[in-house]
Amino acid sequence: MNRIAIYPGSFDPPTRGHEDLIRRALGMFDQLIVAVAINPNKEPLFSVDERLAMLRTAFDGNPRIEFASFSGLLADFARARQSTIVLRGLRAVSDFEYEFQMAMMNRRLHGELETVFLVPAVDLTYLSSSLIREAARFGANVDGLVHPAVADALRRKFPQ
Ligand code: PNS
Repeated sequence: MNRIAIYPGSFDPPTRGHEDLIRRALGMFDQLIVAVAINPNKEPLFSVDERLAMLRTAFDGNPRIEFASFSGLLADFARARQSTIVLRGLRAVSDFEYEFQMAMMNRRLHGELETVFLVPAVDLTYLSSSLIREAARFGANVDGLVHPAVADALRRKFPQ
């Protein structure tokens, strides 16, 4: 049985936390589709193409990972890709309420869609893309919290 999981998110930008989750998921699933959501209501820092390029650089050539983007409902994307597994990360209890609602709504929209939650390594639990963006915007060194290609991209966005 070929188990295909979808790991959706904004990834604006990808962090070491996202990378940690992807590595953990590869131990559980045969194929992983890392899916960058196109959200017309958000003004992202990085374009979809930039986010996909950063993700690809971090997982150069791994044949079990596909990088894709999607607009519209995740449930529809999952149906189109014939996957019934959504992977999401839980960093803290505060993540839970929103994630629980989203999992329930996704199952209502696609009755076979299961959401699997993974927790990242303990030293990455405080990381979020929004904190990385804010720290980089004000000139903080984010090396070690993101892939070197992401750190370079942030330096180009926010030259000090
Ligand atoms: O990294 P994020 O911003 O927490 O990811 C959230 C994301 C993109 C997974 C979520 O907003 C999503 O799935 N958006 C697509 C629209 C959708 O299906 N929403 C949930 C049911 S209404």
